[in-house]
Parts: sequence; C-alpha cells; structure tokens
Amino acid sequence: MAEAIAFSKEADRSTRYLELVPQIEALVSGESDLIANLANVSAVLKEVFGFFWVGFYLKKGDQLVLGPFQGPLACTRIDLDKGVCGHSFTTEQTVIVPNVDEFPGHIACASASRSEIVVPLFDASGTIVGVLDVDSDRLDDFSEIDAHGLEKITRTLTKVLT
Ligand code: SME
Repeated sequence: MAEAIAFSKEADRSTRYLELVPQIEALVSGESDLIANLANVSAVLKEVFGFFWVGFYLKKGDQLVLGPFQGPLACTRIDLDKGVCGHSFTTEQTVIVPNVDEFPGHIACASASRSEIVVPLFDASGTIVGVLDVDSDRLDDFSEIDAHGLEKITRTLTKVLT
C-alpha cells in the first residue's frame, strides 16, 4: 500500500482532484474492508484540501449513522429525511449548500460550519448506502469542481462496495 499521497500543494482544486482520483483508486482497490477504506479516504481529503470536516454517514436501519471522518466531533445519527445529508440521501443527488444558514433543516453539528457539499454513496448494485459530507468554515466554498471530483471519489468506493 502507498504510504503517502502525492499532490501539488499550490495547485487549484481541479488539479488536485485529478491527481488524487487514481491514487484513491489504487488505495481502495487493494483493501476490501469498507471502514478502512472510508477512513483513509477521509484522511486523504482532509490532508489534500484542508476541509473543516469531511466524513461519511452510512445507512443503518432507518437512520444515517456517523462513519469514519476527520474533523471536530459530529452528530452521530441523522434521520433519512433530515438535514443536507438526508436531502442528498433521499434525492440520491449531490447537494451544494453555499450558506448553511439558508438551508431549511440544516443540522448544525459545528457552529463554525458555513457551507457544505454532500455526495451520495452507492454500492455496486446501484443502491444508495450513505453519503460523503464535506463542510467548510467559509461561505460558498464548494462548486461543480468539488461535485465532480467528490463524485469520482465516491465512484471508486462503489467498486469496493459489493
Ligand atoms: N450538516 C449536516 C449534518 C452533518 S455535519 O455537518 C457533520 C446536515 O445538515 O445534514
């Protein structure tokens, strides 16, 4: 297994996503354990982009339950139809929230969080199994570049979610 991720510290996000995707693919294809893979992906995203909070919620019963993450303490359980995470889960779409105070039903796990992106996570049969949630302490920090980059990253995980 690779011991470090190589990336251009000064490059824009789009370049860093491009550099990252094949390395994440290599990282997760060599490991079948889901928690190990989600933990490493969270760590890599935190290291490469310095996001305020990055992590996974996985569907367990009728809730989304906190999975591997990097960042401050977070809410452990979210109802499937609640918050930005629930919205992404029920619509099976990526959701970008430029200002969390303007999203009805946003769940504030940390008051420093100002904007957010949530990307659905599917298993190999196409069933939604959870979400990848990224929070920023800056307003309007996420764009289609993040949506595309993070969707590519969740697709690498789909391959190991059999
Ligand atoms: N803000 C999210 C909850 C998860 S935390 O941000 C880590 C939401 O509204 O779903």
